[in-house]
Amino acid sequence: MIKYNFDEIIDRGKTDSIKWSKKYLKENFEDEKIIPMWIADMDFKVAEPIVEMITDRARHGIFGYGHKSAEFMEAAVNWQKKRNGWNIEKEWMLFTPGIIPALNFIVKTFCCPGDKVIIQNPVYHPFANVITNNGCHIVNNPLVLNDGKYEMNFSGLETIAQYSKTKLMFLCSPHNPVGRVWTSEELKQLGEICLKNDILVVSDEIHLDLIYLPNRHIPFGKVSKEFEMNSIVCTSSSKTFNLAGLQVSNIIVPNEKLRKKLNRKLSSINIAPGTFASVAQIAAYNKGEKWLEQLIIYLQNNLDFIDKFLKERIPRVKMIRPEGTYLAWLDFSDFNLTDIELHQLMRKKAKAEES
Ligand SMILES: Cc1ncc(COP(=O)(O)O)c(C=O)c1O
Repeated sequence: MIKYNFDEIIDRGKTDSIKWSKKYLKENFEDEKIIPMWIADMDFKVAEPIVEMITDRARHGIFGYGHKSAEFMEAAVNWQKKRNGWNIEKEWMLFTPGIIPALNFIVKTFCCPGDKVIIQNPVYHPFANVITNNGCHIVNNPLVLNDGKYEMNFSGLETIAQYSKTKLMFLCSPHNPVGRVWTSEELKQLGEICLKNDILVVSDEIHLDLIYLPNRHIPFGKVSKEFEMNSIVCTSSSKTFNLAGLQVSNIIVPNEKLRKKLNRKLSSINIAPGTFASVAQIAAYNKGEKWLEQLIIYLQNNLDFIDKFLKERIPRVKMIRPEGTYLAWLDFSDFNLTDIELHQLMRKKAKAEES
């Protein structure tokens, strides 16, 4: 068995990585030397079978139009079954070159300007842009922090779900940035409220494979047949296997009526997986599991390291230990600073450490 070396430091500066682009850092953070942690993008080399299969395909030398092949879809179907016990059909899967494009298409398809979409802050910030860029309104049901653990506010959700023109709910599962892996009880409560109020659940499950035991990811559509029919589950191999640059995602729409409607919109721009996206997904799902198992152990050790470091060196900063995702959400509230003051302090400290 290959033992992957996640300690290897690989210079990405000469690639087109936005994370490491000095120009981007300078323009957005006024400093090209900061360590870029603003984006969910790992610096680990991908699993060897992915490199091998992409290299073989590149050597073939012809890169004409592709399509959503049976092998491409079967790899995703089998992965869902094996990892999460959710039986999905190939026919339920639509392709988009990423989850954000999918969310945009979903809002365009199922909302009219002026409609409302529920989110639960703090959440992956582009959710808000997707909603407002399409002329819709955000209704926020903030998560609540109870004893170091974020939870959903179900009574708040009951209230806002009844607002007129509320059409969709963006669920982030597992939740970026707070790292919650929602339990089946929590998903049930959310799903019932949405069903009762005729709100379609759009479950962004991009972080689905990055889960720490004893937590288990439950696909929203697996909770019940009714939820399956009232949801669009957005998944991808990109976060799991570090393939974001290949732009691949699998949008699972079990409800035929909803699927046809969304597909009509997608067909208007004629999209199919790019050659390398297709090869990478097949390689990742069929041959990448061992890499993922080793990655999760490595990430867990990183979390232990951060935890220890903060307790010893900056005890006023509390890490909200994630149940899933590779993100660490840090609580600086003890400093009682505004966002700007906090940024200034961090920059000053980072410079002090540097010198
Ligand atoms: C919750 C969540 N959704 C979507 C994305 C972006 O997805 P994509 O690159 O497939 O558009 C990210 C990236 O960090 C994310 O964390």
